[in-house]
Formats: sequence, C-alpha cells, structure tokens
Amino acid sequence: MINKRVFTDTKDKLIKINILVVSSFLIIFSLFTFFYFQSITYNSIDDKLKEEYEYISIQVNRSSYLNPIVLNDPRDLVYIYKDDRLIYYTKSDYFEAYIPPEESDNTNICFTYKEGNYTFRELSVTINNVKIRIIRNIDSELSSLKQLLFVIGIGIVFSIVITYFVALYLTRKALSPIENAWYTQAKFIQDASHELRTPITIVSSKLQSLLTVPNNTINDEVETIADAMNETRRLKKMIKDLLSLSKEDAIIQLNLEEVNISDLLEEIYRDYADIATIQNKLLKYENNLTNSLIKTDKNKLKQLLLIFIDNAFKYTNINDEVRFKLDERDNKIICTIMDTGIGIKESDLHHIFDRFFRSDNVRNMDMDGSGIGLSIAKMISVNLNCKIKPYSVLDEGSKFEIVIPREIS
Ligand SMILES: Nc1ncnc2c1ncn2[C@@H]1O[C@H](COP(=O)(O)OP(=O)(O)OP(=O)(O)O)[C@@H](O)[C@H]1O
Ligand SMILES: [Mg+2]
Repeated sequence: MINKRVFTDTKDKLIKINILVVSSFLIIFSLFTFFYFQSITYNSIDDKLKEEYEYISIQVNRSSYLNPIVLNDPRDLVYIYKDDRLIYYTKSDYFEAYIPPEESDNTNICFTYKEGNYTFRELSVTINNVKIRIIRNIDSELSSLKQLLFVIGIGIVFSIVITYFVALYLTRKALSPIENAWYTQAKFIQDASHELRTPITIVSSKLQSLLTVPNNTINDEVETIADAMNETRRLKKMIKDLLSLSKEDAIIQLNLEEVNISDLLEEIYRDYADIATIQNKLLKYENNLTNSLIKTDKNKLKQLLLIFIDNAFKYTNINDEVRFKLDERDNKIICTIMDTGIGIKESDLHHIFDRFFRSDNVRNMDMDGSGIGLSIAKMISVNLNCKIKPYSVLDEGSKFEIVIPREIS
C-alpha cells in the first residue's frame, strides 16, 4: 500500500514538473511572440503617421481656400496650429465633433491615448510656431492584437492539456520497470522470509521438545538433535545461496581468461565419479569437441555447471544414469547434462528458474534444497552470455542444454 502511494506520488510530481516546465516555456514564448507583434504593429502605424506628416508638412505653407490640404490616408485626422491657434483640422463624419485633448505637450514622438470608446495614436510635431498633430484611430489594429492574444491563450491551454496526457504516458512508461523491480524485490523478501521461517520453526520446536525431557541424555535425544542440526545446515546453505543471489544481482564483475572446457568437465567428472559410486548411480562423460578453448570466467562457469550436476544427482534414484556431454554447434559449445531421474512436470518446467520454486513432488519428498540453485544459474548464464534450454519428462528424466559462447561479447 505504501509502495503504491510512493509511486503515485512520484508520478504526480513528475507530471506536475513536466507541465510546469512546458507551460513556463510556452508562456515565455507566447509573451515574446505577442510583444514582438505588438511592437511591429505600433512601428508600422508610426511609420505611416510619419509618412503622413512628411506629406502634410510640404502642403502647410502652400495651403489656401483654393488649395486645401490633402491627406495621404483618409483615415488620419490632422490638426494644424499656428501660434497656438487652430488653423486647420480635418473634417470627418466619424470624428467631426472630436477635438483632441490639448494637454499633451509631446512633440516629435508618437503616443497612444483613449478617448471615449476609441483608441488613438498621435504624432505631434512643432516647428517654428506651427504644430502639426496627426491622429489615427487604431481600434482595428488593437482588435487584431487582442485576437492574437486570444489565439495564443487557447494555444497555451490546449498545449497544457496535451502535455498532461503525454507526461502521463511517458511517466508511466518510465516508471514501470522501476515499479516492477520494486515489486520483484518485495516479493523476494517475502518469499525469503517465508522460506527461512520453516527451518527456524523446526529448530525451535526441537529445542523446546528437549526442554520437556530435562533428565534424558544426549544419547536418548540423538535423533531430535540430529534433526535440529540438519535444519541449521539447511538454513546455513539457504543464507549462503541468498547472499550469492544478491551479490550476483549487484555486481557483475567477470574475470575473463582462456579456459579449456574439456579439462574443466573432466575435473568435475572425476569429483563426481566417487559420489556416483557411493550413490549407486551411473556417471557417463562424452566429449565431441575438436577445439576446447573458450574465453570466459572459469569460476562462474564451474558454478553454473555444478548447479545442474548437483540437481542431476539430487533428483535421481539408485541405478539411474547421469551423463555430461560436450558438443560444438555454430562455433558455440553445447554442454548437456542429462539424467534418468524423477523428471519435471511440463507445467513446472516454466517455473524452475523462479526463486524458491520447487516441484510439489520434490517438496513432498522432503528433499534438501531451497529452490534457489536454478535462479542463481539463470543469473550466471546472463552474465556469461550463455543460454539454457531445459527438457524434461516426468518420471523419465531431465536434460539441460547450456549453450556457451566461445568468447563473451
Ligand atoms: N534434474 C532435475 N530433475 C528433476 N527436477 C529438477 C531437476 N532440476 C531441477 N528440478 C526441479 O526444479 C526445482 C528448482 O531447482 P533448484 O536447483 O533451483 O532448487 P533446489 O534443487 O530445490 O534447491 P537448491 O537451492 O538447494 O538447489 C527443484 O526443486 C526441482 O523440483
Ligand atoms: Mg538445486
């Protein structure tokens, strides 16, 4: 439950950060675009007002009733003052009644002001007691700018909504492997503690049973003590395996060297020949290699092969056969470890590499082991670039093919 909340909180945070970053960029970019267009618009109006001024200033001295002032752009309003006396103003249906405010002392600059419902831009120039004011209604330009602002606003909202969904998708995709690793780890701890509990419970119950018979001698209770010792041995092996599993998980440090795989298998064969004799089992070794040299981590490869060989001996009965075989295929070495033992159910074959998995028949037979061996083998095989192919028929036997590359790439 807590883990779920950690992931939901992280997802929420990542989404918020994404939206914040994207919307900040969008807003900055939009404001820049808007102010850029606004300045272009005002510059173009000012240029036109200046053009108008040039056009009129030529006419000012020549104007008379017969020769009235003509405007370049009929949209402009022109007011001409001589010695502060209005000597000319443009007649317009639209602006007829309008006399611009006198308070502005600006000369030679363009400025904007509002009058009633209208907005104007004015250029006021004074030369030798003559003041020329050119005024233009800029409502249409302002309305275009407002429209631009509206479109930008809609664009920002739309982009934020899209960003939200994209961020949601990407965050889920990015977090899912971490989430999976987290849950696998949690399951591993659960399984490990469950598996460790069984031997500890047995040991404590055996010790408790000893307490109920304080007058008995060690000889009387030898069986109980042996059982407890067996369980502690099991516990010790399990802890060792768990440790090697976690180490394998953490560091993948390979010690690569030239290895003669035939020599390695022969060495293992010699070690197990005695065990086979003691257990009344048949051990065979076949080598079909022409070139036995490979480059790999010798210790890890030996550890890998021993896990399968150990299983082959563990899951066979008296008079059963265990066989190792070395072959060559596509410039790869195939090491086959076969046995004519108890075999594995087809439905179990997919699970044998899972941590703590043991077939029901094996659990019922109360055989030594904790179901970690093959999961360690799987990890080593990944490190050594090997492939493992399991084949098995229940009650007939098992075969594990380990495909070993000549060199780890
Ligand atoms: N050669 C085999 N024949 C039959 N069953 C096998 C063989 N090898 C593996 N299995 C099945 O796969 C299971 C997992 O094997 P694995 O080696 O991981 O664990 P284990 O042998 O039970 O314990 P340990 O961790 O001590 O090796 C075994 O419990 C057994 O059910
Ligand atoms: Mg095993």
